[in-house]
Formats: sequence, structure tokens, C-alpha cells
Amino acid sequence: MRRAVCNPITPAMSEQAPAKRLYIKTYGCQMNVYDSERMADVLAPLGYGMTDDPAGADLVVLNTCHIREKATEKVYSELGKLREMRDERLADGGSRMTIAVAGCVAQAEGEEIMRRQPAVDLVVGPQSYHQLPELIARTHRARGERLAADFAADEKFDALPADRRPTGVSAFLTVQEGCDKFCTFCVVPYTRGAEWSRPAEAIEAEARALASKGVREVTLLGQNVNAYAGEGGLAALVRRLARIEGLDRIRYTTSHPRDMDDALIAAHGEVEALMPYLHLPVQAGSDKVLKAMNRAHTAESYLRVIEKVRASRPDIAISGDFIVGFPGERDADFEATLQLVREVDYASCFSFKYSRRPGTPAAALPGQVAEEVKDARLARLNALLDEQRLAFNRAQAGKTLDVLFEKAGRHPGQLVGKSPYLQAVFVTAPDRMLGQIVPVTVESGAQNSLAGVLAPVVEMESA
Ligand code: 5AD
Ligand code: SF4
Repeated sequence: MRRAVCNPITPAMSEQAPAKRLYIKTYGCQMNVYDSERMADVLAPLGYGMTDDPAGADLVVLNTCHIREKATEKVYSELGKLREMRDERLADGGSRMTIAVAGCVAQAEGEEIMRRQPAVDLVVGPQSYHQLPELIARTHRARGERLAADFAADEKFDALPADRRPTGVSAFLTVQEGCDKFCTFCVVPYTRGAEWSRPAEAIEAEARALASKGVREVTLLGQNVNAYAGEGGLAALVRRLARIEGLDRIRYTTSHPRDMDDALIAAHGEVEALMPYLHLPVQAGSDKVLKAMNRAHTAESYLRVIEKVRASRPDIAISGDFIVGFPGERDADFEATLQLVREVDYASCFSFKYSRRPGTPAAALPGQVAEEVKDARLARLNALLDEQRLAFNRAQAGKTLDVLFEKAGRHPGQLVGKSPYLQAVFVTAPDRMLGQIVPVTVESGAQNSLAGVLAPVVEMESA
């Protein structure tokens, strides 16, 4: 195996490239969704157009997630399937499929991927995917010799094309990457590196370009987005972006309770475009467990942050992340998690069984919890969270909410959009309302969505 040292993309490579088919499969978080879109942008000048069918693709990219063991294992089983597909096509006299592994598994275990799955042509980490054109060219020149990208943190964002091709009216926009918090269960500080923030000017330029192409909503992304270190922090960035014409909705994710400063909390009460939704992971409700997790907050300090946020924006919907079965978690600790959930009353949540990740401090802790115990705790936690989510959705019935219509619904003549609280809302509405923000009267709330009708004012306009 050789290591590729990458040069910047030469303009000659983008000239008159033939049509080629690119298939990208994305695992994990929203930042991977963003990165996948940017990979497509970087490959477009080489003639790569997207396809939904891996079997016919010239280039397959798996954009991988390393956060839990299950996510990582999925990559290896997918690679096995791709290898069969590739070999069958070659045996039928078809063209060669290039297979690339990107994302956090590539970063964390690139060498192992190469060893375990010989079909892989190249691996490229989250900071190096702007080098894909050069890497692919090298792979092809080397006729199947496999290459691994250097993972040196790079000027990725400067190298990416300024022009994005948004796929809808809502877009992700990475503003911060990496994490310095070192929660003891988490691989992110190792896969995504140290906290780093993009300059506000570059973010604004990207947001303006998106708005000029019809994007109405941006979700600012960062592993610790509220640790955004540009001048004035995330609050100043939100206020700056809120001035962009056409950009009516701003969201951000994911946040750490420690970085929820007063300026950001105030912005929730003052900036109209900042949507009333906050994803603020707490992970657990027991101070003993929080300490062992190195979360640097207590249950009480988390609750105080939530209280302040609600004082600033009373209708804000709160969501969170939870881990059950962290090493040393006893029944009483888990009860404290349930108690915290009852106190917060969440609109929506993600909950996970603790997954032991090699190289993280918690993997070496005593008191690893049995799988059956984790299963039972997860089921109890989910039952409570589901109940809260259903209650939150049902509580919208009778209210009129602004809905941003994003795509066709399940039934003909129906559109689906998002409420300010990030709920999916199904409405009978004309196609011309796609991309518009329209008042909708909610008729009912179910576990995962709302149903509503266009509010009378809109019906009069369209009559
Ligand atoms: N096991 C289980 N869940 C984890 N998360 C991060 N690392 C682990 C792990 N080792 C969860 C946390 C985090 C979310 C993105 O994933 O809840 O907030
Ligand atoms: Fe992982 Fe904790 Fe950093 Fe979040 S704050 S990315 S959970 S180390």
C-alpha cells in the first residue's frame, strides 16, 4: 500500500470530463450528510453525477460513522456486498467500480479497512475529502493499487468549490468541527480532532449563496456548535446570518450544556429567525455517572440552563441525547436519568446503549453493564421519551404554526413540511407552495408527525 501525498486539483482535470455515476451512502450524523453533499460538489467538475443505484456506479463512496460499534460494523458488511457487485460486473465484462471509504471509520481505522477488505481502492478522512479528485486519478493511474489519503488537517473549506448545489429548501452548513471536551465514552475528539471554527465571513458567503438558490432554512452544524469561536460566538453568528434576505429559519446542532452562554440564550428570545428548538444532550441524570463521563456539568446545572433558555423563549422545544448502561451505572443512577427526563419534559430525543469504543477512557472502566440490563433500561427510557414526544405533538392540535414545505407527502396532493419545532407536518396543499413558509392549523398530533390544514388566510389568497 502506498500513501498518497495530494496536490491541489489542477484545472485541467475538470475539463471535458465524461459522464460518470457516483453513489454515496451516508451513515451517522448530519455533518456526514453535509460532507457527502460537499464530496458530490467536489466531484461534479470531473463529470460525476449522482445515482441511487450502487450496482451501476463508477464510484461508490461510503461516508462512515464510528460513534458506536454497530455503525462501524455496518461498513464492513456493506463493503462485502459492494465487492460482490464489483466482481460480478467485471465478470460480465462491465466497467470497473472504484470503492472509497470516507468519514470517521476511514479516519480511525483506515489501515484496518484496507487489510480487512481488499476491494477498497482508497480511504479518505473527514478533513481530506477535498482531495478526492486527485486521489481517484492516482488510483486509476496506479491500476488498482490502493491508496490512503494523508490525514493531516488541511484547508479543506478553502479548497471546496464555493458553489453549492442545494438539494432542497433546507440545508446544512458546517461552522465548527471537532471537540475538545473528551467525554470518556466518545470517539469524536479522536476522529474529528480539536475544536476548530470557520471564519464568519466564509460562513456568511456560503449562507448567502444557499439563500440565492432558494434555501429558506439553514442548520448550522458542529460537533460542539455552541463552542463556535468566531467573534461574539455562535450568538453573533446567528444574528449575522439572520440578516440575510430569504433566509428565514436558522437552527443549530449539536450543543454542549457548558457552552450555552447568556448571549446565545438571549438570541433565542430576540432573533425571530432562530427557531424555537434546542438539541442539548445531557447523556445521563446521575452526577456520579456524569462525572465518570467527564461531562463537566451536573444534572442540576443542566436543568438550570434549560430553565434559562425557557425563560428566554418559553415555547422552545427541547431535545437531547442519552446513554444508558455507562460503566458503573446502577439502578439508582438510571432512575436519576428518568427523573431528569420527567423534569425537562422533552419534545424529542435520541437514546443509545453505551457502546464500548476502543481507545476511549470509558472502555477501560470497571463495572461494564450487562447487555440485558442495557436493553431493559433503554426500553424503559424510550417508553417515557415516546410518551413525552406524543404529548408534545398532540399539544399542537388547534394551533396555527408556520410550516416550511419541503417535499411531496405520502398521498397525492399532499405536501410535508417542518414546523418551527422540527415536527413533520402533513398538509393537503398545492405544489406551488413547495419552498414556502405557510401558516397551517394543526388538526392532530401523532408519534412522529402532525396533520394540518392550510390556515384560512392562505386559502383566501389562493382562491
Ligand atoms: N456509546 C453510546 N452512545 C454514544 N454516543 C457517543 N458515544 C457513544 C458511545 N460510545 C452518543 C451520545 C452523543 C451522540 C451523538 O451519540 O449520546 O451525544
Ligand atoms: Fe463526544 Fe462529548 Fe465531544 Fe459530544 S462533547 S462530541 S459527546 S466528546
